[in-house]
Amino acid sequence: MASNDIKKEIERRRTFAIISHPDAGKTTLTEKFLLYGGAINLAGSVKGKATARHAVSDWMEIEKERGISVTSSVLQFEYDGYCINILDTPGHQDFSEDTYRTLMAADSAVMVIDGSKGVEAQTRKLFKVCGMRGIPIFTFINKLDRDALDTFDLLDDIEKELGIATCPINWPIGSGKGFKGVYDRESKSIICYSDTEKGTKEGKATVIPTSNEADLRAAIGDDAADKLLTEIELLDGAGADFDLESVRAGKLTPVCFGSALTNFGVEIFLKHFLNMTTSPLPRKADGEEIDPFSDDFSAFVFKIQANMNKAHRDRVAFIRICSGRYDAAEEVRHVQGDKVMRLSQPQQIMADERKILSEAYAGDIIGVFDPGIFSIGDTLCAPKKKIKYEGIPTFAPEHFARVRQIDTMKRKQFVKGVEQIAQEGAIQIFREFSGGLEEIIVGVVGVLQFDVLKYRLENEYNVEIKLENLPYEHIRWIENPEEIDVEKLSGTSDMKKVRDMKGKPLLLFVNPWSVGMTLERNEGLKLSEFGKGDWS
Ligand code: G4P
Repeated sequence: MASNDIKKEIERRRTFAIISHPDAGKTTLTEKFLLYGGAINLAGSVKGKATARHAVSDWMEIEKERGISVTSSVLQFEYDGYCINILDTPGHQDFSEDTYRTLMAADSAVMVIDGSKGVEAQTRKLFKVCGMRGIPIFTFINKLDRDALDTFDLLDDIEKELGIATCPINWPIGSGKGFKGVYDRESKSIICYSDTEKGTKEGKATVIPTSNEADLRAAIGDDAADKLLTEIELLDGAGADFDLESVRAGKLTPVCFGSALTNFGVEIFLKHFLNMTTSPLPRKADGEEIDPFSDDFSAFVFKIQANMNKAHRDRVAFIRICSGRYDAAEEVRHVQGDKVMRLSQPQQIMADERKILSEAYAGDIIGVFDPGIFSIGDTLCAPKKKIKYEGIPTFAPEHFARVRQIDTMKRKQFVKGVEQIAQEGAIQIFREFSGGLEEIIVGVVGVLQFDVLKYRLENEYNVEIKLENLPYEHIRWIENPEEIDVEKLSGTSDMKKVRDMKGKPLLLFVNPWSVGMTLERNEGLKLSEFGKGDWS
């Protein structure tokens, strides 16, 4: 394929993550997006919420039991000439690491907020992670068909709680039983609400320019019209000006209002969103930005999921393509493994369906069969190249436990299981500093990951384990092990010396002040809070 064709394909890609507090309407909104893309027929009638959620990620029973989405998944659909990749993010606060990795693969984020609740705990947390990436954020304030908080208060809440300026693209007229529609600021018209659109595509809504005051009053009533006209005046006078540069820098969030359930305002949001977002953004490898439009294929692994399909006991590496075109018939270089190879079973993961693909472009997310060679953060590129994308930092675990298998005969499965789950990045494992292979210490960011570990070892590896909680709360990697004698390190009584999966030495502490004390006692010792680039 000629270069120009590749460029055209890349240009039309849009890759974003969707974030929200559980129950704000992320699944419903995603379903409606798919409806517009023609990926499904009647959003409402395809699946109930419960089944929809599980269809996306039913490889983990634990999700069903707890009703939370533990893992993230990817959906691709076409709309209006665009090829859209949506990355779903796990909704539970314990999985911020997985979310962070998912956001590494996205170029922007859609934040769904429940209009009756405003900014909630999980939104705050996810937003912080978005902020670390500096990606553009687009807000959809949902459930306007239910009584919502005052619009100015909602915007204030976002600005104060999340520290990002807001710019309403449209403005709601009432809410709940009094919801009359939205005012579109660009066309200076109102779009009248009707819930008869539920489950169908929008398009038949009545549109009235606000300059036509008689029709406006007839449509929404005098009270709502008076309120709206005052609010528009206030908004035009006081609101932040729209500035695309600030949006793209993640400093200003465009806000749309609507109701995903009744399918009102979704298409308007999607259209505005697609207009404002960019095609795939460049990412850095070896300190340099790699042009997504370059002819040479490159990608990185941002997620590994084992046993997605129990019947096959397989392991899938999720890859974000960063530049060029991927051709399944051609070889690629796995930089960290220093091998040139053909990727095995490249596939597009569509909800519960998988489609083998022959080609993909920068911006796309693909899954490939992983025989156990990939780690999170690994780079794949054209055979003639040898670049390394910047690693994904590991989060410092905050909870630690010693883990043992109950049946000593099952040592092999136990070690294999723990190591595989650690390679996926769901947990981190540490071993005694000097030998002592018997003992494995597991570190996690959120305690729910301990349950996931236990559950998965039992179900996927047939190994029962015992977890014994350890009091450590502070972890420091030794940055300069070559320069100091780690064996002879003079630490505090609450300190434990261990090694991570890659053999790097680190220290665990119970008390925060012990960190400073250990630094004082050992001249030249350098400690770091993050296992920077540990994956690479
Ligand atoms: P999530 O993925 O963010 O967790 O939220 P999800 O879409 O599953 O929606 C959570 C609940 O909120 C669902 O109700 C859903 O129907 C409802 N919902 C989503 N968008 C809207 C909206 O615009 N208006 C109203 N009124 N409700 C909305 P549920 O009772 O938990 O499930 P279901 O039985 O309705 O499927």
